[in-house]
Amino acid sequence: MPNEGSFAESLKRSDEIRADFDVHPDRYVMLTGDRPTGRLHIGHYFGTLAERVELQNRGIKTNIVIADYQVITDRDTTEHIADNVINLVIDYLACGIDPEKTLIFTHSAVPELNQLMLPFLSLVSEAELLRNPTVKAEQEASGHALTGLLLTYPVHQACDILFCKGNVVPVGKDQLPHIELTRLIARRFNERYADVFPEPEGILSDAIEVPGLDGRKMSKSYGNGILLSATPEETAKLIRKSPTDSERTITFDPESRPGVSALLTTASLCCGKTPEQIADEIGDKGCGALKEFVTDTVNDYLAPIRARRRELEEDLPRIHDILAEGNAKAREIAVTTLDEVRSAMGMVY
Ligand code: TRP
Repeated sequence: MPNEGSFAESLKRSDEIRADFDVHPDRYVMLTGDRPTGRLHIGHYFGTLAERVELQNRGIKTNIVIADYQVITDRDTTEHIADNVINLVIDYLACGIDPEKTLIFTHSAVPELNQLMLPFLSLVSEAELLRNPTVKAEQEASGHALTGLLLTYPVHQACDILFCKGNVVPVGKDQLPHIELTRLIARRFNERYADVFPEPEGILSDAIEVPGLDGRKMSKSYGNGILLSATPEETAKLIRKSPTDSERTITFDPESRPGVSALLTTASLCCGKTPEQIADEIGDKGCGALKEFVTDTVNDYLAPIRARRRELEEDLPRIHDILAEGNAKAREIAVTTLDEVRSAMGMVY
């Protein structure tokens, strides 16, 4: 994959686009997505969900793919997938995603999106696919052989973005290689056939990354993240068990006190004070007092989201309807794009 510039350049470009969101909201179509592999945690909330809600409310066309086919890129089971998909929709709505403004759909319900995979695969070489650092890292972490789907899912992700002519994609650093590949595919298609696709840009989040409660990266598989769907008691228990130290004076020092600092960062995001301010206020009352403060702050912050979650859980038929409507709408868009693609390729008989 050609490296089209440094991370600093991507960041600069991303800041320019952000500044333009307010000026020309109608120029942007955003697409983003999640794999339905479990419940969302506060890392997702502060990392991307809050921003999606903000962009949606600023009038930017927002699309969210629940990437169900991406679940089987590096694992060989679809256990709990239906439950995960429904709970993802519940998490979105509870956080303020409005299905009137934001399109929510699953891969598996949109055949025409998946069909873009055929022409797109013809536009990339094996070497370009093998060079993707994120795919390599995911394959190593999975302990599985490199499957054909894991190797080619970045192309599938290009289908997600391009079927709706998405031109902005909020991403973490690890997804930048996928955006580069999407741009390459769009450019090659347009050059070879006809001008059909935009060249999307990655929008890098300026949100602070929420560390897991043990100071490691927050991850579903480490179980070190506070779930939006957890009860206040479960939250308290998770925080109580989080590893800290026996130093009584609380200080913010991510290098040498990762556990204490992760707790401070978490509380800081939920109450608006800086981690240092919170540390000063707790002073020499020790980690027990810190954990109590964090528990109360997080539970207070999440209370309205959790209350909405409970209401939504009571009305599952509505959740299924919202998804069905999103899927139907996504399909309409995909049919139109696939028609354009077939016509650009002369495949109209
Ligand atoms: N790979 C993304 C993740 O694991 C999810 C995803 C699927 C996505 N398709 C996408 C993100 C398209 C951005 C654009 O979180």
